[in-house]
Amino acid sequence: MSVDLLYRPRRLRLTPALRAMVRETLVQPSQLVYPMFIEEGISEQQPISSMPGIFRYPEKSMDKAVKEARDAGISSLLLFGVSHHKDETGSDSLKPDGLLARMVKRAKDTAPDMTIISDNCFCEYTSHGHCGVIGTDGHVHNDHTLENLALQAYICAQAGADMVAPSAMMDGQIAAIRQRLDAEGYTHTPIMAYASKFASGLYGPFRAAAGCDLKGDRFTYQMDPANAREAQTEAALDEAEGADILMVKPGMFYLDILARLREQTNLPLAAYQVSGEYSMMSYAFQKGVLDEKRVVMESMTALRRAGADIILTYFAPRVARWLKE
Ligand code: PBG
Ligand code: ZN
Repeated sequence: MSVDLLYRPRRLRLTPALRAMVRETLVQPSQLVYPMFIEEGISEQQPISSMPGIFRYPEKSMDKAVKEARDAGISSLLLFGVSHHKDETGSDSLKPDGLLARMVKRAKDTAPDMTIISDNCFCEYTSHGHCGVIGTDGHVHNDHTLENLALQAYICAQAGADMVAPSAMMDGQIAAIRQRLDAEGYTHTPIMAYASKFASGLYGPFRAAAGCDLKGDRFTYQMDPANAREAQTEAALDEAEGADILMVKPGMFYLDILARLREQTNLPLAAYQVSGEYSMMSYAFQKGVLDEKRVVMESMTALRRAGADIILTYFAPRVARWLKE
């Protein structure tokens, strides 16, 4: 029995050139953001045991790490501080000479052409590990934290940040930061909103990496992984408050959220392939179970295909190198 096939999709898969001609999704180094951990008070780079191949770099010699990333073809960095000066409010991150401001300035001075992005939150700087100030009821106090976030973002802009990325998941954080930046003359500094950041188990390796020993959990401020419509609400709020880029985090378990937001907004979208995603894949590569280059590139393509314009990933230098080959 023979069927008369009129359309045969395999016709356009016959040669590499044909496949490239009809490829719908491309990945470019300019779309990558590399998250980096900078620690004060150490002199040697420290391997992060939960994230094979990732290091905490000493503040003193961070220039070298920044240049290495640039030489790999990375044009954008997201900086995380590993603080030795933690307190109840995370006050070190509010000082013009605190670790956060210092590392932003240092990165910018080292690589003026790169886009230096500050992660704006408090969990790396608070003794309790929560993303803001604790109120009398024991929960993170939204509006006190807003004031601090606005100040912290201003301090980062002043230190030279090309973009600020608030990740605390406080209600109104985009508006609070936008108003403060504008009032201080930083009308040109864009905000990348961690718009739908889910309370995910996939942040585990990061907390070990950044040295945030959280007592408790973040369920009262980060999103329930079960909620897609609410993610759309969060994104709509951040857009209305003046966000320039909307992020979905984590990435690979949340491709449906990316696809929904791609339909909802015309703003650029970012996806954060988080530490747990990095580690899951890395251990499989170490065991020889999965092919590193092939699987990482497939994950990049998947995030792009789902709607991400920008990808934040610990694989960024490797991806940039592979794209140059
Ligand atoms: C801080 C922050 C976290 C991550 C990015 N910014 C940790 C958290 O919310 O617990 C996670 C990044 C990763 O897992 O790679 N708010
Ligand atoms: Zn936080």
